[in-house]
Amino acid sequence: MSVTHVSTMLSAEQIAARVGELGAQIAKDYADRRLVLVSVLKGSFVFTADLARAISLHNVRVEFLGVRSYGEGTSTSGVVQITQDLSKPIEGEDVLIVEDIVDTGLTIAHLLELFKTRHPASLKVCALLHKPARTKIEVPIHYLGFTIEDRFVVGYGLDWAEHYRNLPFIGVVEAK
Ligand code: IMP
Ligand code: MG
Repeated sequence: MSVTHVSTMLSAEQIAARVGELGAQIAKDYADRRLVLVSVLKGSFVFTADLARAISLHNVRVEFLGVRSYGEGTSTSGVVQITQDLSKPIEGEDVLIVEDIVDTGLTIAHLLELFKTRHPASLKVCALLHKPARTKIEVPIHYLGFTIEDRFVVGYGLDWAEHYRNLPFIGVVEAK
């Protein structure tokens, strides 16, 4: 039987400090705006929960978007299926897409195209992690937590075959 170990890449404390900074910057930039955080499920659920509480504004809405990307194993094909749409229109709203990680960029590129057709007042991207080594399409990331090397990471919402989402830190799975 193989035993796996997850080594820490970003500790809970490091993540909390960075999320606090992102929240403060977003609160500053979106004061007097109609901010709608769009959490891309499932990976962003933990990040969104912490980020939303780090944004000290009263006029914030939180929406959830379910997506499934067709691809084998740990790669993405870029074909994104919406499994759960937003509960309300975003026309005229200031939309901030909240993603766990921008890997190839294909998912965010697709979501930006989709949301543009709904005429938000503004449309920006906040990602906790970015893996530039894997870029297939350049996408704007207006708020970024950390740039990481090309390792498959888990925890803080990110999964490996639906496991490890509940880890409070971000780490790398290592077979022992
Ligand atoms: P992209 O379309 O290739 O940019 O990546 C889209 C999605 O793939 C992300 O939102 C994640 O859900 C997933 N993903 C990419 N890299 C990782 C990783 O290292 N760990 C866990 N999930 C990942
Ligand atoms: Mg994701």
